[in-house]
Amino acid sequence: MHILITGATGATGILLTGQLLARGHRVTAVVRSGEKLSPLAGYGENLIILEKEILAMDREELGAILENCDGAASCLGHNLTLKGLFGPPRRLVTEAARLVCTAGQTPLRDRPFKFVLMNTTGNRNRRERETAYGPGDRLVIGLLRLLLPAQADNEEAALFLQRSYSDPGSPVEWVAVRPDTLIDEAEATPREIVPSPLRSPLFRPGKTSRINVAAFMADLLEDEALWKEWSGKMPVIYNRNA
Ligand SMILES: NC(=O)c1ccc[n+]([C@@H]2O[C@H](COP(=O)([O-])OP(=O)(O)OC[C@H]3O[C@@H](n4cnc5c(N)ncnc54)[C@H](OP(=O)(O)O)[C@@H]3O)[C@@H](O)[C@H]2O)c1
Repeated sequence: MHILITGATGATGILLTGQLLARGHRVTAVVRSGEKLSPLAGYGENLIILEKEILAMDREELGAILENCDGAASCLGHNLTLKGLFGPPRRLVTEAARLVCTAGQTPLRDRPFKFVLMNTTGNRNRRERETAYGPGDRLVIGLLRLLLPAQADNEEAALFLQRSYSDPGSPVEWVAVRPDTLIDEAEATPREIVPSPLRSPLFRPGKTSRINVAAFMADLLEDEALWKEWSGKMPVIYNRNA
């Protein structure tokens, strides 16, 4: 399998890239700084590093690369700096998802293009009745949407996928993976994957290790039965008993 990853230099992105490479797959990573992927240099030519600003790429350029890919994954997020949080591009995640999904559709492909988006439990799936979001969660999330471009961006990215690629026969199939509070752990541990949050994401959050997110995203891309189970959905991932 050959997967294109955006956000591969991030805390979760590098784990996903490492997971796919360790499983023998090929990865093309579109990154701003290739140096950050030097820990993965041992994978040799299975890791193709493209030092480019993803949103500066045009559809044709990206399309030519994606012709050789089975799918793509996004671990993009706004850097936690004033510039990252409030400066442009304010719709980094949404616009990159739009670009990759559009460019990934080619008449040569004999099956839908797969796209996995790293999203968040801070984003309520409006197509489901998600009862874990109480009035307090909804109020705070509404305020965050107004004040924090990253919140609106994560919400719009998932909405874009739902609105554009939900019909049967769609050229793109997608999964939006929603971790709860991210933590770092060295090894993957037992995980719980559910269709909707089990607890208030703001007032009683659970924990999700980045390595478990990376393993689940890699499993989705690799395992056809798991893909069918979650395609077009927004699964929530928790560390078991966390
Ligand atoms: N924090 C939490 O508890 C939590 C919980 C659930 C979900 N999430 C979501 O999970 C996602 C990833 O989290 P993470 O901690 O793995 O992220 P991270 O370490 O902050 O990584 C962010 C990635 O996005 C890239 N990026 C940022 N701005 C960019 C730009 N303008 N152009 C191109 N690339 C850009 C970064 O590239 P550089 O290396 O070049 O900067 C990096 O690869 C985020 O969307 C976040 O909202 C977070």
